[in-house]
Amino acid sequence: MRRRDLLTLFAGALGPLPWSTLVAPARAQGVQAPPNTPPVNVLEFEPLARQRLARAAWDYVAQGAADELTLRRNREAFDAIQLKPRVLVDVSSLDTRLELFRQRLEFPILLAPVAAQGRIHAGAEPEAARGASAAGATMVVSTFASAKLEDVARAARGRVWFQLYVHRDRTVTRDLVQRAEAAGCTALFVTVDAPVIPMRDREKRLGVRPPYTGPSSGGRVSPIYADALDPTVTWETLAWIRSFAKIPVLVKGILAPEDAQRAVSEGLAGVLVSNHGGRNLDTTPATINALPAVVETVQGRIPILLDGGIRRGTDIVKALALGARAVLIGRPYLWGLAVDGAAGVQRVIDILRDELEAAMALCGAPSLDRITRQLVWPDR
Ligand code: FNR
Ligand code: LAC
Repeated sequence: MRRRDLLTLFAGALGPLPWSTLVAPARAQGVQAPPNTPPVNVLEFEPLARQRLARAAWDYVAQGAADELTLRRNREAFDAIQLKPRVLVDVSSLDTRLELFRQRLEFPILLAPVAAQGRIHAGAEPEAARGASAAGATMVVSTFASAKLEDVARAARGRVWFQLYVHRDRTVTRDLVQRAEAAGCTALFVTVDAPVIPMRDREKRLGVRPPYTGPSSGGRVSPIYADALDPTVTWETLAWIRSFAKIPVLVKGILAPEDAQRAVSEGLAGVLVSNHGGRNLDTTPATINALPAVVETVQGRIPILLDGGIRRGTDIVKALALGARAVLIGRPYLWGLAVDGAAGVQRVIDILRDELEAAMALCGAPSLDRITRQLVWPDR
């Protein structure tokens, strides 16, 4: 296991900033952090990020849809799951490596696509990508990135996937995919849980528009439609993308096992069980609660990934135990980015990775294939 001197590393990265300006009251969850101490876990980055960001940027990151029930559920569901550790297993050597789409990953944590990171840090996506690549993680770049895709890919030093929002203009869509391939992206997530602009009350209150272009004009057009989101996207559209994409095509935003089944029969490379971090349709289940039925249906035919609410190494063990091959994090790396740029992103990933290793060792599962459903307490 890697052990780093957190204090030295973090204080160095932050330079002369006094912690008193950065440390906010710790969240109710977990142990209260004493004032003026650097974050020791991912959750402690959240109040620091909140202090750093202007109100509109903070709400952009933090918000969920409507009553934010799904947003909260994503977390509560992980907390409700109990682990069942096995003991007396030799855990002197831990292996977190995996292979996905013929790519070697050092550990099963990726950075989820997040639009408009220029709202969070002046260095935007390239800054986040530098942190990700320093930590050895793959970053998925959003269609609505603030920075040019090629610049993000360069900063990511080859560890980059692309997230596609299908554009109404199919030529634009095809060009985007081909640009992503040319820039070195090695997998493509097509996001399918956002055919329209979702109802986000915080966004409405602040008057911040999501990073899509405004609704088409003429007559009383429902404000849910955006030029850059195509409400006509169907399975046929995915088949069309597959017909020319040279990289594996995955579908992002699956909750129903029926849709997962369809993804398999359509020949997609993988599915990402996601509710968009609780930002789109409120009142859906937590992703970790939706996962088992999807796993049951897919029967190992294609890899299943999961995002939504991952904040602890134990959350990753739970997701893998219930059948995910890897997880993605969204808000946690944005908090790191807001607090300390690339170094903050790197730190967030390092913390999760250390926590994952510790959880594996304490569960008696020294490699990812040893993380099975048996590690979850059978009360669910
Ligand atoms: C997102 N997400 C997202 N997803 C996507 O496919 N394309 C995008 O452009 C964005 N943009 C975006 C912006 C912000 C500010 C957030 C917080 C999220 C969703 C993201 O990829 C992922 O599904 C969730 O963030 C995962 O949940 P957690 O880890 O944030 O709880
Ligand atoms: C969001 C969009 C951009 O979640 O996916 O804000």
